[in-house]
Order: sequence, then C-alpha cells, then structure tokens
Amino acid sequence: MDYLNLQLLFLRAKNALPIPVYNRADREKIIIFINLYESVNGLAERGLGRPANQCRLLVADALSPFIELANRLEDPKDKEKFINLICQAVEAFHEPTAEHQARVAKACQIITRNLPEPFESKALALAARLHDFGKIGWPNWMFIVSKSEAQRLIPAHHFISLYFLEAIHFLRPAAEIVRTHHAYDGYPIGCRPEEMTLESQILSAADYLDAMLYPRGYQNGPLLSRHEALAKVAERSYDPAILRVISEHLDDF
Ligand SMILES: [Fe+2]
Ligand SMILES: [Fe+2]
Repeated sequence: MDYLNLQLLFLRAKNALPIPVYNRADREKIIIFINLYESVNGLAERGLGRPANQCRLLVADALSPFIELANRLEDPKDKEKFINLICQAVEAFHEPTAEHQARVAKACQIITRNLPEPFESKALALAARLHDFGKIGWPNWMFIVSKSEAQRLIPAHHFISLYFLEAIHFLRPAAEIVRTHHAYDGYPIGCRPEEMTLESQILSAADYLDAMLYPRGYQNGPLLSRHEALAKVAERSYDPAILRVISEHLDDF
C-alpha cells in the first residue's frame, strides 16, 4: 500500500471541498493516521495477536481526520464528492475491493428495480458502494499471514466499515444496512439473519453472489458458475422475491 496515495487523496479532498486550507494541525493528523494504519498493519503482520476490537480502536483514531472533515460538510454536492473520494481511496488501496463494491452496487440496483414492488434506496446504494471500506488496510498483510489467520482476520473489515459509516452523519442510514449484512457469515457475533431488513438482505445476497462469481484479490478459491452460485444463494433464507429476481436476471450479475 502506498501511504503517499492516501496523503495525496486527503489533500485533494481538502482542496475539492469547502474546508479551510490544509494546515499544520491537519498535517499532524495525517501523519497520525498513517502511523496508526502502519501499526494496525504491523500487528497483523506479526500475526495480530490482538482482538479485532483493539485494532478497531486504532483504526478509529486513524480515521478521525476523515470523519471530522465529512461531518463538517453540508452541501449535498460536497457529500457526494466525499463519497467519491472514499471510493477512490479504496481503489488506491485495494482495487479488487473497489471493483467488488461497484459490482455489488449494480447488483443491488438490478434487484430493487425488479422486485414485485420496485424501489429506489439511496441508503442501499451508499451501503453497497462503501460496505467493504474496512478492507482498505488489507493489501499490506493479506498475503503475508497464513490462510487460516487471514480467515480469522476477515471479520475485522466489517467493524472498520461500520465504525466509519456510523461516525459520519450522512452515512448513518447506510450503516444500518451494512451492520447486519454479514449475519450469515456469523458476524457481528450474535447477529441473526432474521434481523436483516429487506435492504440488508439485498446487500447480503448481492455480496454473496459476487464473492462466488468474481475474484477478489485474496481467498483465491475456485469461482462458481452462475447456476452453482444461485443454488448457494438459495440455501439462505432470503426473501423469496430476491431469489426470484436473481434467478430471472442471472446473466446480468
Ligand atoms: Fe464485507
Ligand atoms: Fe463485500
């Protein structure tokens, strides 16, 4: 991962958004951000040895300049710029994740538009575009740790994504959708699939389907055919209307 990229992105954001010009305090915050990210990655490289919630605390501090900046935005156009910037940041850090999020966003749109009662959901679109934001620190260590360790670390991305989405006022509606969408994967612990709203089920189904159909730059297990993937999605108790749309539009995913 190129930390300079993040620094440049942050500077670009500051220039593009109506926020006072970059100053010394910001520079210090950026440096803290970079150092903390390095320490999170450092922990991971040494086999982590710490529970995800401790990493989450470090990441929380690391993300604070972005969160503060976002929470000062009022104009919807600036908020949109910020969201685009975050997507670019994910792309700079881990391209397969950025591509995955873009495909999942498209898949969610296909599903919502073809349900018996079609709907548009800005919150779901946002949730899909940002749900794996927390994978931003992965490239550094995903290839270093053992496969079993990587499996153990995967849920950490969810908590980082959630922390970020919940902390920014205009992303909070997306956070609620993101929160439960990994219920079938067993996290957050105690979260049951029955808690998922329709929007969360759509995100979950689109996410699961995408993971089986496209490579994600890690976990290089064999990809499945569309029909095999559909059969897997059907094993979960999603709303039957979601399954129907997926099977009727299978080639579009
Ligand atoms: Fe995820
Ligand atoms: Fe995902």
